Amino acid sequence: MGIQYNGTKRMFKLDTAGTTYIIGVTEEGYVGHVYYGKRLRQFGGGYLMRTQEAPFTPSVNQREKNSFLDFFPMEYPTGGIGDYRESCLDVRNSAGSMASEIFYESHSIEDGKPALEGLPASFGKADEVQTLRIVCKDPVLGLQVILLYSVFEKEDVITRSVLVENTGEEHLRLEKVYSACLDMENREFEMVNLCGSWARERHIKRAGVRPGKQLVSSVKGESSHQEHPFLALVTPETTQETGEVYGMHFVYSGNFIAQAELTHFGYVRMVMGIHGDEFSWRLAPGEHFQAPEAVLTYSGSGLGKMSRSLHDFYREHLIRSPYKYKKRPVLINNWEATYFEFNTEKLLDIAREAKKNGIEMLVMDDGWFGKRNWDDNSLGDWTVNEEKLTTGLPDLVRQVRGLGMEFGIWFEPEMVSPDSKLYRAHPDWAVQIAGRTPGQSRAQYVLDISRKEVRDYIYECVAKILRSAPISYVKWDMNRQLSDIGSACLPADAQGELFHRYVLGLYEMQERLVTDFPGLLLENCSGGGARFDPGMLYYSPQIWCSDDTDAIERLRIQEGTALIYPLSTMGAHVSDCPNHIVERNTPFETRGNVALAGTFGYELDITKISEEDRAQIAGQVEQYHRYHGLIQTGDYYRIASWTDRKPYDCWEVAAKDMSEALVTFVQVLGQPNMHSVNIRIRGLDGGAGYRLEGTSEVYTGEELMECGFIVRDVKGDFRSKLYHFMRE
Ligand code: GLA
Repeated sequence: MGIQYNGTKRMFKLDTAGTTYIIGVTEEGYVGHVYYGKRLRQFGGGYLMRTQEAPFTPSVNQREKNSFLDFFPMEYPTGGIGDYRESCLDVRNSAGSMASEIFYESHSIEDGKPALEGLPASFGKADEVQTLRIVCKDPVLGLQVILLYSVFEKEDVITRSVLVENTGEEHLRLEKVYSACLDMENREFEMVNLCGSWARERHIKRAGVRPGKQLVSSVKGESSHQEHPFLALVTPETTQETGEVYGMHFVYSGNFIAQAELTHFGYVRMVMGIHGDEFSWRLAPGEHFQAPEAVLTYSGSGLGKMSRSLHDFYREHLIRSPYKYKKRPVLINNWEATYFEFNTEKLLDIAREAKKNGIEMLVMDDGWFGKRNWDDNSLGDWTVNEEKLTTGLPDLVRQVRGLGMEFGIWFEPEMVSPDSKLYRAHPDWAVQIAGRTPGQSRAQYVLDISRKEVRDYIYECVAKILRSAPISYVKWDMNRQLSDIGSACLPADAQGELFHRYVLGLYEMQERLVTDFPGLLLENCSGGGARFDPGMLYYSPQIWCSDDTDAIERLRIQEGTALIYPLSTMGAHVSDCPNHIVERNTPFETRGNVALAGTFGYELDITKISEEDRAQIAGQVEQYHRYHGLIQTGDYYRIASWTDRKPYDCWEVAAKDMSEALVTFVQVLGQPNMHSVNIRIRGLDGGAGYRLEGTSEVYTGEELMECGFIVRDVKGDFRSKLYHFMRE
């Protein structure tokens, strides 16, 4: 019974296992927000819509319509009619005026969930999800706005999206179409976000919501290193296990806004959608626009519950890859090993040594094509550089496979180097504004993949390489943000569509790739983690987390990422020391233990590292084989956080059937005059006994959860330990 409608009260009640979301329709037809929170068994009425207090609804008191609209909790607020808070929909008519006002028309409830045209979106079977469509109309514009709510009962998730259709006669222009809005009474909310930069992506930040607007956003054409399309509002007492959390996450990979606005009436409006800057979409009569999906979740028991709901949701209902629950091969990538300086022999040397140590796949990174010996040329020229790969690519792949390993390859399909055959042949294929030299970033331009011929050409280059040899894995990179937004093909009044058309073009190319090569393991990447978002997860089960592979830097990056993404999605490798980004030295064991919390692999010259380090690889690989299933499918618990000023970091993965749990403890800095540390394990069966692997120590689940486990003898900086508990 996910969705119920009470026709007398004109109210919708959307229930998940632990939450309830209520929508009400006023006499005039405004669709109002009533409640979102802990699950309610019954709900008596619409008193929370506050239509019974001055200035009353417009039907009773038209002279105060504006002040009504400026206060009323709306499900999908529109701009230009007197609601001065952030609007979700701005529409300009053919006379140039900007206003819209939508009223309830009808609704339908169906089992299952429709796909969203051209966009990545969650999915579910008829018995897993129900969808409510509320059809609204603006009678003046002849505009139809369909609000879609899909209720995933088991995972405590409600997804929202919006379909706008021009059913009238007039040419309209959409200046803004957000995907979700939540109007709530302020409960001293604090805002939790993920922010950072290149090499330090997705650090957790938390701050009180103040009057006015506080937002995170990207206008870079990618979800970005700097900010993340996620926002949670939490009550002040919120910890991992207590407090209320409203999380919103965007299934989109381009420009976004995620904003909380505290109003003069003590309400908070939380919105999420495609950023309105540089967005302007023509909507001719008969045309429609589909906004991407926003994922909403409520937790009454802290951030940990939100994390687990989202992890389950993404694993079950967003990631499609056949690899989602399959063991990913342990790979070795040559980027930090060789950068651009490699050839067939070097790659084979790495592969041979890797194979001896149990590594299962060689990934050839940037530098194998055109005349690319540095990063300032050849993007777009996807033909093998036979000066480096002297016997050709098929032969290299054959030799690697002959060793009993798989082969993977790197591409950066969306880009073109000014110094490339492709750019010389088609300078107009780069995103640029006529008459203005586009800015370079990493000496490259962005291809205008809003154009079909550009997409077709580039896709065919990639596909041709993949068809030329049995290649098991692709790393799809994207190493710069967009600027100088102009397309040689779009008419003047459609240039404001380019950012979104670019993202749609990207999705189309990746859809083609996973359809044509269904067995391929795809890993997305963007200069590290600039496009780590739910949109990309629809195509690839894993995304490179960050170019920063230092184990200690990774603690923050991976903690922030795991706040909302399953561990199985986080690209994580063991690299060499001193680390290439921060020049820090950390024990090889700790590098392995930290990478184990992600997809696990290596990114170093295995032929050159110390004998002592190399000797640990086989054991680490064996450890990965033992624990990958638990890490991929288990429940994640954040036990202690270095980010939170603890001298150590600690996380756990517990099997859903409580049969085992793996705890990772990292002592970041050694502490003077300290004894042992007590950590409380989570997610166990209280009545069962658990043996600590490698010992004869047995504890009850209750002891471990209530009294805690004693971590002893972790001395020195950057030391780590794994503890594996198995039910007896
Ligand atoms: C990006 C990626 C790296 C590597 C380089 C190659 O920075 O994040 O892992 O592939 O590009 O140029």
